[in-house]
Amino acid sequence: MADTITVTDNRTGKTYELPVTDGTINAMDLRQIKVSGDDFGLMAYDPAYKNTASCRSKITFIDGDEGILRYRGYPIEQLAEESNFLEVSYLILKGELPNQTQMDRFRHEVTHHTLVHENTRELLDGFRYDAHPMGILISTIAALSTFYPEARLVNDAENRWLQIVRLIGKVPTLAAYAFRHRRGLPYVYPDNELSYAGNFLSMMFKMTERTYVPNPAAEKALDVLFILHADHEQNCSATAMRGVGSSKVDPYSALAAACAALYGPLHGGANEAVVKMLAEIGSKDNIPSFVKRAKEDRNVRLMGFGHRVYKNYDPRAKVIKRLADDVFEAVGKNPLIDIAVELERIALEDDYFVEKKLYPNVDFYSGLIYQALGLPMDMYPVLFAIGRTVGWLAQWEEMLVDKDQAISRPRQIYLGESERPYVPMSER
Ligand code: CMC
Repeated sequence: MADTITVTDNRTGKTYELPVTDGTINAMDLRQIKVSGDDFGLMAYDPAYKNTASCRSKITFIDGDEGILRYRGYPIEQLAEESNFLEVSYLILKGELPNQTQMDRFRHEVTHHTLVHENTRELLDGFRYDAHPMGILISTIAALSTFYPEARLVNDAENRWLQIVRLIGKVPTLAAYAFRHRRGLPYVYPDNELSYAGNFLSMMFKMTERTYVPNPAAEKALDVLFILHADHEQNCSATAMRGVGSSKVDPYSALAAACAALYGPLHGGANEAVVKMLAEIGSKDNIPSFVKRAKEDRNVRLMGFGHRVYKNYDPRAKVIKRLADDVFEAVGKNPLIDIAVELERIALEDDYFVEKKLYPNVDFYSGLIYQALGLPMDMYPVLFAIGRTVGWLAQWEEMLVDKDQAISRPRQIYLGESERPYVPMSER
């Protein structure tokens, strides 16, 4: 069987044979299809990249129909159960699980880059008392580029690695500082004796105690949530990271752009919407009428249900559901969980949701865990960003070393006015 496709242009009657590689045609091969010598050539029209592969990648595999998610080939369920966030970070960035020496070195590198320059505190002081932590995070990540001007040498692999570990180390510090600023609390310096998640909890919640001891269940839950959010292939924010990074700007500026993409309610904001929805439903008795509204009123959606890629149970949602039980046992049950479980049961038996293949996604249960851990809702996208920082950096690195990539610059179909002469103001 030939790995080609034959295209007949009915405008000219000409036939073209285009190679098919990895289930795709190269869009540039369409350019030879012309109606006349001065024709620019055929292009593909694909707003929102719904059917365009923008890169070749070896990082994350998703099969949306089967509900499969793997990082570098390892199933997400196994990583969540057996690994930890820093080990998964190494795997995502380097392609292989680390041996003990590699792991120790990586942990040391990340841990020793958790402090941020003291000037950052003054920068934070400039934000209003009620500034959204995601706005603060985006701005302070961008500001880091001014502290590390050498970061713009993006063609130097050693230099890139230094910025990668710096970002993985510093993003939780900036995130916690954003939270403390909002509360009017003093900033807490990182504690290198604690785990990655434990240190984050310490920077968030430490008060006057000499040493903060994280609740083991909260620490474990946060670590697993970071793993589950670490990468999700070419989503909106990863595409922003690659697109902005393709100009060869420094990684702090590119990561701030990715973070900004995540801030949008269609991307990183749905878990907050789930918690609000469950609170609005209020009791199990109100579920049937809410489900009816979600089916009949196009403006009402069952938040935390449905996904562009998954047409099956989101594998991350399964892990989170189990995790929620452990967290509630340790820190007390979130009363909204009973409504969530019953809502899921009713929706999964309903023809509307079954036919449209609408299943719980990653956001359905994660907000309930964050709430039980005492985290305010506007921190939910910030937590997502901490885990996803690793994925953004891996996607950035892969893009930079890919010989096929160049500055991201799509084409357009121009439908505006054709040439016309300038009209002086007096004649308009
Ligand atoms: N509740 C009720 N109906 C729904 C829902 C829902 N949650 N999701 C989709 N539908 C219906 C929708 O009305 C449409 O019906 P019809 O075919 O009759 O027009 C059909 O299902 C297909 O929906 P769509 O909006 O065309 O699908 P999409 O792939 O563009 O959207 C989605 C995916 C996630 C935006 C959507 O399912 C949704 O809005 N879900 C609720 C919000 C949510 O949970 N978002 C978190 C996504 S996961 C986090 C992340 O990865 O960033």
